[in-house]
Amino acid sequence: MRLISRLLSDASKVVKSLDFYSQYNPSPLSIKQFIDFGKTGCELTSFLFLRKELPVRLANIMKEINLLPENLLQMPSVEMVQSWYVLACIDVLLWLKKQKEYHKNLSRFCEALMRIRNRHMNVVETMAHGVMEMGDSHGIDNTTDNNVQYFLDRFYMSRIGIRMLINQHTLLFGKDLAGHPRHIGSIDPNCDVVSIVRDAYENARFLCESYYMASPELEIETHNSLKKDSKIECCYVPSHLYHMLFELFKNSMRAVVEYHGTSSEEYPPVRVTVALGNEDLSIKLTDEGGGIPRSHIDLLFHYMYTTAPQPSKSGGNSAPLAGYGYGLPLSRLYARYFQGDLQIYALEGYSTDALIYLKALSEDANEQLPVFNTTSSRHYKTGIATSDWTTSPLHTSNTRF
Ligand SMILES: Nc1ncnc2c1ncn2[C@@H]1O[C@H](COP(=O)(O)OP(=O)(O)OP(=O)(O)O)[C@@H](O)[C@H]1O
Ligand SMILES: [Mg+2]
Repeated sequence: MRLISRLLSDASKVVKSLDFYSQYNPSPLSIKQFIDFGKTGCELTSFLFLRKELPVRLANIMKEINLLPENLLQMPSVEMVQSWYVLACIDVLLWLKKQKEYHKNLSRFCEALMRIRNRHMNVVETMAHGVMEMGDSHGIDNTTDNNVQYFLDRFYMSRIGIRMLINQHTLLFGKDLAGHPRHIGSIDPNCDVVSIVRDAYENARFLCESYYMASPELEIETHNSLKKDSKIECCYVPSHLYHMLFELFKNSMRAVVEYHGTSSEEYPPVRVTVALGNEDLSIKLTDEGGGIPRSHIDLLFHYMYTTAPQPSKSGGNSAPLAGYGYGLPLSRLYARYFQGDLQIYALEGYSTDALIYLKALSEDANEQLPVFNTTSSRHYKTGIATSDWTTSPLHTSNTRF
């Protein structure tokens, strides 16, 4: 019997619970709420919230996995991902029963969350592998491709949200070593934007040098409209910001070196402008890497769209600079998760601007989460965009949001 069917039959109660919990919408939290809770909340309150909220978030996305095309559901990697989600449900639902004992066992709840997080470590790659497996064995028609793209945005966004909840709990109350005394869980209330820009640049540069033995320099400019000449800080998850910047730097560096040739004496720098206003914190990366034709712009946020050769499976120890076509779509999810955005503008034959927008105020930075309901399931059948997110952001560039 296949792993997923066995797990499902072992866990018929989980299936019933999925029906129950998927009726509820996830409760999005703002960065301010995460911070306020991190300062004053106690472990028991967090536990009581999570033992309901995690099943709701897991059930919402598991219901949606079931709507995927049969061909994709049958792929071994997708079955594997499904089994991890079933196990996560079992792990969390167990805690609903222990009504009398739970206050004595909070550290075990924390350990269960860490186990879930570790088990889910390779979800992104494994799901991506499943999509590739399906493409290789069945080919992908347009409708299937649209549905898969729509699903991946929602699935990966749901994962970002679930990880955020787990990380906050384990960092605040568990044995996880907190990164920095100033941090509240994974959030830095005074995140130094320029230092994260430099960090992401240096690490992308290291990769770029190892591929091309060359890399462009970095120039940074800041404009703080709230406090002239002060450094720009924001209340944000530094690892999310780092992720986006690292992906954008890799793309810019590759474009610059490829466009000017590996034997060029000098490369135009990647210029970064950081601006803080009342509402938005904006970060713009500009490179002179030859731009992108307008006809390709809509493809940039398509999972698996890449112009780089496929990274070799036995390609040594170092991570590839490009080649999976996941850098931009995943980075945009990180930006949108707290109501920001990521956009690309280009002048073909010259330059590319990549813009990251973040909410300047932590109370405006609400989680953006997928909601499973009849309208979202209709999308898979009709392809019509529906209202199936926790809030409606002002995204106009793509009908998927
Ligand atoms: N700054 C840029 N200049 C020119 N082309 C770009 C730039 N950024 C992205 N692109 C184009 O967009 C494609 C998709 O970028 P994306 O980061 O999503 O995937 P990738 O870089 O190919 O692979 P990876 O998943 O490893 O990042 C790139 O292959 C490249 O063709
Ligand atoms: Mg990339």
